[in-house]
Amino acid sequence: MSSIPDIDDSTPLAAQLAEDTRRRLTLQGLQYPRPDKTRIVTVANQKGGVGKTTSTVNLAAAMAQGGLNVLVIDSDPQGNASTALGIDHRSGVPSIYDVLVEERPLGETVVQCPEFPNLLVVPATIDLSGAEIELVSLVSRETRLRRALDQYIEERENQGLSRLDYVFVDCPPSLGLLTVNAFVTGREVLIPIQCEYYALEGLSQLLKTIEMIQSHLNRELHVSTILLTMYDGRTNLAQQVVREVREHFGRQTLETSIPRSVRVSEAPSYGQTVVSYEPTSTGALAYRQAAFEMASKRQHDQ
Ligand SMILES: Nc1ncnc2c1ncn2[C@@H]1O[C@H](COP(=O)(O)OP(=O)(O)OP(=O)(O)O)[C@@H](O)[C@H]1O
Ligand SMILES: [Mg+2]
Repeated sequence: MSSIPDIDDSTPLAAQLAEDTRRRLTLQGLQYPRPDKTRIVTVANQKGGVGKTTSTVNLAAAMAQGGLNVLVIDSDPQGNASTALGIDHRSGVPSIYDVLVEERPLGETVVQCPEFPNLLVVPATIDLSGAEIELVSLVSRETRLRRALDQYIEERENQGLSRLDYVFVDCPPSLGLLTVNAFVTGREVLIPIQCEYYALEGLSQLLKTIEMIQSHLNRELHVSTILLTMYDGRTNLAQQVVREVREHFGRQTLETSIPRSVRVSEAPSYGQTVVSYEPTSTGALAYRQAAFEMASKRQHDQ
């Protein structure tokens, strides 16, 4: 293995370069550990624009790049995860809407991400924007996604297809029926928290909702992971948010936080994740490191 160069880290830029180099060398060619059984992770925060979609697609891409079999379910009518993964999601293409409202088998909506053959996607189209209301009058409206996913997993097993290691469900910024379906489906929740002033506002509402789902609909559900996003170490505020989050959620919060980075925000316009668009950029390395940390956590910590 190549040795880690001795880099002067007396300035923030030099320190960042040194950190990136260290990460790049440790992550090179690394195989990510497979979980004992499929981990189903709901990515949620009813606060908008905190990095739910960016984290979903980049963690998923990093895991796929690390050799794992991953499925991303886009459950947001905005369809941002589908865009970032380069998946057609024009109105009318088979999507999560058909699964939730028309009870179409999930397998009929799954497509392969062009960048990674072992990264599968269920897209969301604009049709989903009516689903919150359409679902209200349907039977078992909270458990539709779970049943569909359980069936798909069983189907894959019967067909002798490789087991999925991770399923990520990207939620819209609300606590409506789409998010409830995602909470009933997931066994664990990942909450991205943006390192800014209002970061913790609304968090107690989110945790209360998760507790309610846990006591009525899904005993297994728990917050396994908190990921700090859009971190800018130059501001005292960001450092303060990090301290506060770690104080309250020390066990769940990943050591690796995601820095604010231009590459991360421009990747979706190329229909790509930053992990495939520029794998050695600071943002991509941070997501790859975070994904590895998540995959390496001991089973009982999940
Ligand atoms: N680390 C980062 N550095 C720079 N920009 C980022 C970073 N993470 C996310 N962004 C940008 O911030 C915006 C919000 O991110 P994202 O769409 O992932 O949030 P979200 O929580 O999914 O939003 P919504 O609630 O609308 O679904 C996007 O424009 C995204 O490109
Ligand atoms: Mg989003």
